Amino acid sequence: MAIDLAPISLPATADAEQFKDFGREILGVNPGGMSEEQMKEVHDLLHKYSVLLFRDVDVTPEQQYNLTKSFDPSSENHGHGNDFSKTPGRKLFELNAIPGVPQVKLIGNGTVYNHEGLSEAVLKHPSHTTFHKTHVSAEDTAKGITRFQRWHMDAALYDLNPPRVTTLYAKVVPQGPHQTVRYDDGTGDELEVPLAATAFVSGKTMFDILSSENKSVAVRGRVKYSPHPYAWMATAHALSTGLGIVSEGLEMPDDELPLWDEDKIKVYPMTWKNPVTGELHFQVHPCGVRELFVDPLPAVASREGALYPDGAHLTNLMYKMQRPAIAPSLVYPLDWRENDLILFHNRGLLHSVVGELKKDQIRAFHQCNLAASDEPAGPTPEDVRKYA
Ligand SMILES: [Fe+2]
Repeated sequence: MAIDLAPISLPATADAEQFKDFGREILGVNPGGMSEEQMKEVHDLLHKYSVLLFRDVDVTPEQQYNLTKSFDPSSENHGHGNDFSKTPGRKLFELNAIPGVPQVKLIGNGTVYNHEGLSEAVLKHPSHTTFHKTHVSAEDTAKGITRFQRWHMDAALYDLNPPRVTTLYAKVVPQGPHQTVRYDDGTGDELEVPLAATAFVSGKTMFDILSSENKSVAVRGRVKYSPHPYAWMATAHALSTGLGIVSEGLEMPDDELPLWDEDKIKVYPMTWKNPVTGELHFQVHPCGVRELFVDPLPAVASREGALYPDGAHLTNLMYKMQRPAIAPSLVYPLDWRENDLILFHNRGLLHSVVGELKKDQIRAFHQCNLAASDEPAGPTPEDVRKYA
C-alpha cells in the first residue's frame, strides 16, 4: 500500500514551482517501526523529494540509529567518526554523543539536563559571529537580523565517505519571533525565517538553473577537498552568505594541520547522480574545497561558447556556480515543531543553520548520519555527452 504524502508548507517567499519535487510530509507511518516494504518506499521517496518530514512522532535514539542505518546497513561510524574528541576542526561545531548510541548526537542550544543519559550538556547554537568575516551588529541582532551560518552537506570530506541520509529529531524547539536572514553581499537579498530554522536548498535545482555553459563545466568538473577540511577552514573566515571562505590566505597551512595521508583526501565530481531518479545534483561543500579540475570537452561536443574547452585547474569558481541557488525564493526554511523527525538526502542538497539564540532559549535535537559504505557516483558518460 502506497504511503500517504502531504506537501510541505512553503513560506510565501518560496517559488512553489521550483519546489514541486522537494519535500513531503509522510502521513500515518511510525518511523521507529517501519516494515521492510515501508522502508523501501521511504528510501525511494527520500531520493525523489530530498526532505521527508514525520510530524509528532516518538523515536528513541536506538530507533533513530536503526532508521538511519537502514539506508546503508554496513555503515557504522557517524559521518564525522564515532569519537568526536578526535575530530580536527571541531571548534566549528559541537556534537555530543548520546550514551550507548554514539552515532546519535545531541545538538542545540542552552544547558540541557538529564537528557537520554547525559546529566548535563551545554549546547551552543552555531552562530555566524564565530565564523564569518563580517558580523551583524549587536543593534541589528537585537532587531532579529541573522545570517546563514554555513551552507554544507554533513560529511567529514576526509577519509570517511559522505553519509547518504541525515536524520534530525526535534525534542525541544525554542519559541520566539521570526528572524530575518540578511545576505549582506550587495544584492539586498533578505529572507524571513522561523527562529532557529534549518535552511535547505536543492542540489538538483542548483544544477538545473545553471546556464548551459556552466552545466558543461559542472559535469566535467571535480573538486579536491583539503586534508582535514574543518581544521583547514577553522582559522579562516566565511563569506557573509555562509557559502564559502573569504580568500585571504588564512586557512591553516599544510604543515600545521593534523597528520594526513594523501590517499585519504577526497576528490569528488561536482555533480552527483541520484541513484533513484538518475538526476544530477550539484553537490559541493563550498567551504572545504581547495582545487577544481575541469576535464576537456568530449571530442563530439561543440566548442562554440564553451568554457574551458581544453580543461582547467582552478582554485575559485564555486561561488558563481552556487550563489544563484541560495536566492531567497529557492530556500526552504523548515519551521520546526517538537517531535518532528526529518530525513534529508545528504547527497542531494545543502543545508545551513540559521538564527541567533540566547543562552536561555533551549533547543535540543538528535542528529544521526553515518559515513557511507560507498563513494557518491558522478555523472555517467551519457550525462557528460548530454550536458558538455
Ligand atoms: Fe549539518
